[in-house]
Amino acid sequence: MPVRITKLQEMKQAGDRIPCITAYDHPTARLADTAGIPLILVGDSLGNVVLGYASTVHVTMDDMVRHTQAVVRGTTNALVVADMPFMSYQASVEEGVRNAGRLVQEAGAHAVKLEGGKAIAETVRRIVTAGIPVLGHLGLMPQSVNQLGGYRVQGRTLPQAQELLEDAEALEAAGAFGVVLEGVPGPLAEMVTKRLRVATIGIGAGAGCDGQIQVLHDVLGLGTRQPQHAKRYADLDRIIEQAIVAYAGEVRDGQFPGAEHTTDIDDAVLGELLGVVRSTVED
Ligand code: KIV
Repeated sequence: MPVRITKLQEMKQAGDRIPCITAYDHPTARLADTAGIPLILVGDSLGNVVLGYASTVHVTMDDMVRHTQAVVRGTTNALVVADMPFMSYQASVEEGVRNAGRLVQEAGAHAVKLEGGKAIAETVRRIVTAGIPVLGHLGLMPQSVNQLGGYRVQGRTLPQAQELLEDAEALEAAGAFGVVLEGVPGPLAEMVTKRLRVATIGIGAGAGCDGQIQVLHDVLGLGTRQPQHAKRYADLDRIIEQAIVAYAGEVRDGQFPGAEHTTDIDDAVLGELLGVVRSTVED
């Protein structure tokens, strides 16, 4: 039975910090699930770290459905949240509800995540009314990178900070079960966390949030990104490169494949085969 959304609220109330991470495929979802991560996000950061795009705006619903399916197949316990990609909910409330439904019905997600505050509160309310849990996302919203003029910390000025507080409250009122706070000054994130009954999940928002989320590839050291908010717990780039170089070297010098990687054939069958081949050549 996967983690339920109520569990996150219980964790908040108990003061238990919530470790969350992204995953985009079956093997990494399986590992995150086995590690006991309660919430796995199939983030549209998929576009940056897996598909090689410069921003998340190129990620489509079909991309999200395919990758969410793989993550769901690799997961037993974690709550799987799928990101609603750019333009899957901005054009109309109806389109948002339908696309959220697709991520649950077709892809198997347990919940969806949308970027925005008051402007999308009605969409959030309608998706929740349809029976689909929603995680909000405020602060640095990568789908609006062209509007924001880059990936910058948000909420540093008084009007911005006030707006962020109002947006967070609007999402809670609309029924969101939690809010991701990305690229927000720590004290502001802490203030939002204290004001909300639902959990806040921070990324680049300091230690005062109820939980933290990181992009898996940043944590694993896979790829060239090194955002200021991320900490590398491994250097997979180096480990994978070393393994590929070792493999290629063994192929080149004939060490791989060895006898243990090769299937044999019965001597009698081989003898008969040689006889057949010889007689074909002689004919
Ligand atoms: O797409 C993503 O990975 C996200 C997280 C950074 C929260 O939205």
